[in-house]
Amino acid sequence: MPEKELPFKVVLIDYSPELYSPVGFEAEMLAQAGAKWETYRCRTGEEVVSVAQDADVVAVQSVRPLLTREVLAQLNRCRCTIRAGAGYDSIDYKAATELGIMVCNAPTYCTDDVADHAVGLMLAAVRNIPRLDAALRKGRYARELARPSRRVAGSTVGIIGLGRIGSTTAKRVRGWDVTVLAYDPYVGQDHADTVGARMVDLDELLARSDFISIHCLLSDETYHLLSWDEFAKMKEGVILVNTARGPIVDENALVAALQEGRVWAAGLDVTEQEPLPPDSPLLQMDNVILTPHVSANTPESQRDLYRLVCEISIDVIQGRIPQWVVNPEVLDHLKKVD
Ligand code: NAI
Repeated sequence: MPEKELPFKVVLIDYSPELYSPVGFEAEMLAQAGAKWETYRCRTGEEVVSVAQDADVVAVQSVRPLLTREVLAQLNRCRCTIRAGAGYDSIDYKAATELGIMVCNAPTYCTDDVADHAVGLMLAAVRNIPRLDAALRKGRYARELARPSRRVAGSTVGIIGLGRIGSTTAKRVRGWDVTVLAYDPYVGQDHADTVGARMVDLDELLARSDFISIHCLLSDETYHLLSWDEFAKMKEGVILVNTARGPIVDENALVAALQEGRVWAAGLDVTEQEPLPPDSPLLQMDNVILTPHVSANTPESQRDLYRLVCEISIDVIQGRIPQWVVNPEVLDHLKKVD
């Protein structure tokens, strides 16, 4: 179908080739539903407004807060915003809801991949793998750097946030012969039973865990969920892994806990500031493993991500409510567009 005949428009405002680029099937998939597919690399709200003012669906890929209240108010036809990712803290949820715009996320595209990354960081940390590898590459056959290590079997893994990724991580680590504890105020023991975890309160998880892996969302409630008081309650020598969002952990408190040895090692795919500032003490610590917010990245997740974005867009265009609306309170006052 020639482009000009397509009555709808779906815009991805900020794809990043270094992370994910559309796979190639999107334009055809959307064209069959009557929509044009346009992709941009916007860096400012002004650019977003100029390319998406007449879009029916606007997808945002990065975690940069491009869909602010001011921008959303100028997207005249937009009935749905999609975070092409799981966390949707980059969309002004409250403003979208007030404006009658659905906010969707694409939460399932990388569940397995992030869980894999979390267990990878746990094992790499406990077995000192990055440190040993770096020494070998510098010509040091430094077997003493393998110490101290410790056996994983028999230890306790604490999972904060027993949603999709947290549950998948629990299933992965269950095979290590560990006790799995979980803290999540919104999940009950019935669900925890299905993944071999026991629900506990946060204090008990902190006190008992040898590994803590963070998998909750970032919200007002979880901002600095782990701060000075919480680090003080942790078991001496804990390994902390964060593949969720940096600001869930108070980084100053983490640095202090690493320096005094309460936290033995950390594996961080996310940090409070991304990229980390060059003077961050974390960059100097060889018991800290850092990756640049890439837990989700596999070719499989890339394909699943854009497929979900297209499916959600098609639902909106064809008048259905998509499965992944995260602001259901909007449904009784959806924006009307001619
Ligand atoms: P989910 O929505 O399935 O799970 C989040 C869980 O956090 C829910 O079970 C919820 O009840 C729980 N939660 C809410 N408030 C809490 C609190 N105060 N304390 C403890 N738990 C709380 O989300 P999913 O798919 O498991 O993703 C989790 C997070 O992982 C996302 O919000 C996102 O920020 C992050 N993520 C990071 C990626 C990366 O590339 N590093 C990629 C994908 C997701």
